[in-house]
Amino acid sequence: QEAPPAPAASAAAPASAAAPAPKVYVVGTDAAYAPFEYQNEKGEIVGFSVDLLTAVAEKGGFQVKFQNTPWEGIFNALGQGDRDLLISSITITDERKQTMDFSDPYFDAIQLIAVKESSKVAKFDDLKKAKVGVQTGTTGDEVVTKLQGKTASTTKRFESTPLALKELEAGGVDAVVADNGVVIHYVANNPGAKFKTVADTKSFAPEQYGIAVKKGNAELLAMVNKGLAAVKADGTYAAIYKKTFGT
Ligand code: ARG
Repeated sequence: QEAPPAPAASAAAPASAAAPAPKVYVVGTDAAYAPFEYQNEKGEIVGFSVDLLTAVAEKGGFQVKFQNTPWEGIFNALGQGDRDLLISSITITDERKQTMDFSDPYFDAIQLIAVKESSKVAKFDDLKKAKVGVQTGTTGDEVVTKLQGKTASTTKRFESTPLALKELEAGGVDAVVADNGVVIHYVANNPGAKFKTVADTKSFAPEQYGIAVKKGNAELLAMVNKGLAAVKADGTYAAIYKKTFGT
């Protein structure tokens, strides 16, 4: 099938017409993941990822608009073209690389266990038979599924990570396994929950977050990587990091 003819440049366009407005790329993010991406009291999507990608876009010469997108459908939204970019603390994995392309890594992470202060859990292996909450389809879900088996009724899957942590607070699960940054933030901001964290660097592999584009969108990916390199080089990244994490 032949491509439709390109529209002819309109001679009638007013001479004063400015250059076409730059394309605004739509960014999907599951904004229930403080301090990376979350909604403030006004309902605005804010956080480390928002500050970072906004700065990256500025340096890379493009514009972005953030759209809250549930994790469950986030990869499909990218594949179908409903979102141009995803920034959602997404761990770069070989499996995901088959269906989307990732920017250079922008953040290091690892799984961390959250339990009640009174818990005797000391390592990941102690969770083999325990009720463990995870966010469905995350790398936390993957490691717990591997530990407990695909059909284990003790793996409790939640739509969001905060929901899993709420369930830990309510006593419905014995532990939650999720990205360290989010767990640490939650524990620090919810002293009433009486949680502690259990690190197990022997059981969990290091992870890295990447910004995702639709597979094959090399042009946008190059713009993102260019902007990312620029914000890392000029101190912007460090400033955003400090604003978010205080160090
Ligand atoms: N890093 C983990 C993963 O890629 C969890 C990310 C969840 N992000 C979110 N905004 N809920 O699977």
